Amino acid sequence: MNFRLLYIKRKLLMNKTQAYIAKNKERFLEELLDLLRIPSVSADISFSADVNRTAEEVAKRLTEAGAENIEICQTAGYPIVYADKIIDRSLPTVLVYGHYDVQPADPIGLWDSPAFEPVVKETKIHPQGAIFARGACDDKGQMYMHIKAFEAMMRTDELPCNVKFMIEGEEEVGSSNLGVFVKNNHEKLKADVILVSDTGMLANDVPSITTGLRGLSYVEVEVTGPNRDLHSGLYGGCVANPLNVMAQMIASLHDENNRITIPGFYDKVIELSEEERAEMAKAPFSKEDYCDALDIDEVMGEAGYSTPERGSIRPTLDVNGMWGGYIGEGAKTVIASKAYAKISMRLVPDQDPEEITQLFLTHFERIAPSGVKVKVTPHHGGEPAVTPIDSIGYHAASMAYEKTFGKKPIPVRSGGSIPIVAMFEKELGLKTILMGFGLDSDAIHSPNEHYGLFNYYRGIETIPYFFKYYSELVD
Ligand code: BES
Ligand code: MN
Ligand code: MN
Repeated sequence: MNFRLLYIKRKLLMNKTQAYIAKNKERFLEELLDLLRIPSVSADISFSADVNRTAEEVAKRLTEAGAENIEICQTAGYPIVYADKIIDRSLPTVLVYGHYDVQPADPIGLWDSPAFEPVVKETKIHPQGAIFARGACDDKGQMYMHIKAFEAMMRTDELPCNVKFMIEGEEEVGSSNLGVFVKNNHEKLKADVILVSDTGMLANDVPSITTGLRGLSYVEVEVTGPNRDLHSGLYGGCVANPLNVMAQMIASLHDENNRITIPGFYDKVIELSEEERAEMAKAPFSKEDYCDALDIDEVMGEAGYSTPERGSIRPTLDVNGMWGGYIGEGAKTVIASKAYAKISMRLVPDQDPEEITQLFLTHFERIAPSGVKVKVTPHHGGEPAVTPIDSIGYHAASMAYEKTFGKKPIPVRSGGSIPIVAMFEKELGLKTILMGFGLDSDAIHSPNEHYGLFNYYRGIETIPYFFKYYSELVD
């Protein structure tokens, strides 16, 4: 009898689920807008009450959707919301990961409407409208799709397998407490596959599934010259100017081919085969459209690689911020005592973030001219990850996209980083399926972040099919 019941449950058509989603679209949108009104900025301590309140709100929404065993798990930082619905221990379990924290809204002056007062507006790329708010795409909007897809399957009695949720609040600041949580909760997090919507796809009519993420090594550097700020007339030309030196040192980190000059930097980089590169080149890319969208007349990057390659399978080194000296109104003639920069290095398999940080540190100290001292402070990092396209999870995701988009999705490696993906593999032995529905043009981390309504709804519609096909394929 049990077997028969199982069989019926696992061959669900998801028709009732889809009808439920269609009927509740308005409410699904309103609920997301409410969630976006809470400024859950994890990087800024002055928002801590809001971040905590968002965790409670997520827990509440999970409960309302039909999840059980809801827990707001305290950590040394912001809490992790856990919930599950175990319908039958013999069925597979999907662990859904997402994050409820968001990036700071700064620079707030560049937003067309306030970052935490969501509005829906049409854009060229989103003719059906897009939600403008910090976190709309990264990641509240994408995370909430899972809660609504789950609600739809629960209400229609079409949930085909077990599901667990782990929604954290520190992704944008490096997930520093998630590692301990995962280490201490292997049993609780036991699953067959991890499902994450925190990436993007190529275009609304070109669905794609992310099959790789870059790693990250992030350092802050300080160059100190004389022990105090100096008059640039009295001392100019006579001492090392930390800002000049910083500019020179940073410029020397790339050669004329835009390759990174740190010795050993490329040693562990896995080069793709010609076949793999040819496969990658099949994904549509227009350099002209790319430049037009950014108002630039030419692209720039490592010689010998295409723009999509430079942005995904190749490592990078970029200054993210650089300051020092006088930056106020007018002119002040001064040689600053100190110069600062923040530098990110995006890594690819098999580069190791700690090793790269060490290589950077050694090199940066070595190239410092006499007359200055340098200090390198490492920040959070993360390992790169690639996911196979021959797994059951990938097939299920691919079939789900094909069902809702009417097209087979293209596997694409992304340039962004989600360090926990490599950690899940190490700690739990689980591969992650990255079903992201954002677009690169959605301005995540920037002013006017937005998320298309098409993308939000299509995500909610596609997720239940992943559950269906995954349950059917695991046998
Ligand atoms: N969701 C992004 C990562 C992302 C976005 C990957 C789009 C692929 C496509 C995530 O929230 C993020 O911003 N990650 C950070 C790294 C983290 C350690 C702060 C990043 O990539 O800068
Ligand atoms: Mn994210
Ligand atoms: Mn982010």
